[in-house]
Amino acid sequence: MHEGQLNIGVIGLGVMGQRMLARLATHPRLRATWVWDANPAALAATLQTYPQLLAASSAEALIQSPGLHSLYIATPPAPHMALSELAFDAGLAVFCEKPLTVDFAAARACIARIDAQGQRAAVNFALASSQGLALLQSQFAAQAKPSLGVLQAVELTLAFAAWPRPWQATAGAWLGERIEGGFSREVLSHFIFALQRVLGPAEVLRSRVDYPADGIAAEVGLQAELRAATVPVRIEGRVGGDLPDLNRMVWQASEGQIQLQEWFSQIERRNAAGQLLPHAAASGDLRLSGQRDQLDQWVALIEGRPHGLPGYAEALAVQETIEALLQGRG
Ligand SMILES: NC(=O)c1ccc[n+]([C@@H]2O[C@H](COP(=O)([O-])OP(=O)(O)OC[C@H]3O[C@@H](n4cnc5c(N)ncnc54)[C@H](O)[C@@H]3O)[C@@H](O)[C@H]2O)c1
Repeated sequence: MHEGQLNIGVIGLGVMGQRMLARLATHPRLRATWVWDANPAALAATLQTYPQLLAASSAEALIQSPGLHSLYIATPPAPHMALSELAFDAGLAVFCEKPLTVDFAAARACIARIDAQGQRAAVNFALASSQGLALLQSQFAAQAKPSLGVLQAVELTLAFAAWPRPWQATAGAWLGERIEGGFSREVLSHFIFALQRVLGPAEVLRSRVDYPADGIAAEVGLQAELRAATVPVRIEGRVGGDLPDLNRMVWQASEGQIQLQEWFSQIERRNAAGQLLPHAAASGDLRLSGQRDQLDQWVALIEGRPHGLPGYAEALAVQETIEALLQGRG
């Protein structure tokens, strides 16, 4: 171990666990050390790709491993809260995948403990570290000095050729099922996070959810109207329509608009006449640089320094909006 290295235990070695292991391998300070998955095949495959990793014998054993600084949780949502609690018992900082949980009572208890004990915990909404979110905050957050005038409406369009998406084909069945999965929890939650980070809590005014008739599969359509800080917000999401995979958010203001596509990696600012305006975004792959910044924020979390990652309370507020949308209204 060299000085300054922060040792990470990873629980959940599916699609997202593998992505994070690859990202961690490129970070100068964060180092995956111990890993665990309830599925022995996932554990074995991970050790084959990363022979330097150490396999724990259980989640509990991983969390107790000596020398660990932080736990990364990439299981499906159900075990997120219990694993977080075990990690706090062991004095670890926790970086947890979204969605936080669908068990709100457990989440509230966990948040109360975090607050009371000053535990270090954050949720991996990668947009937290994006330049797009920083731009939106500089324009439209409560203290902002807007150059595009007054925010009038926010529109979000999501489209998926298929759900789950092809790159998630190896993920568990949960992802395609309505109890824990579906595009609203999986994808929409990132944009509700961004919306609420800028404008505060959103209220669901109307929501129509289309489910397949089998009673099991997750939603294939969502049309909703919300309000956030008096601003109307419209959401349109669809699986299997004629649009290719798409995420596009448009923040319309009285003197122009900001449009963000492809996970905020494509940003356009326009004036009221529709002309493109220059903006100060750095060149290069914005999505990649956001992911790198996200890991630096994780380092700050572990070291107890200020960081921009959402805590569990902010992630629960996102999930409350998502579950309200999924219940349908109006
Ligand atoms: N932040 C992002 O951009 C992003 C992207 C994809 C997925 N996710 C999130 O990451 C999490 C995992 O998603 P995924 O696509 O990797 O799912 P997945 O089904 O591919 O992988 C989940 C893994 O967790 C393991 N597992 C399940 N229960 C466990 C338990 N109790 N203890 C240990 N291991 C357990 C499974 O065996 C599986 O290997 C979800 O919360 C998902 O929403 C986040």
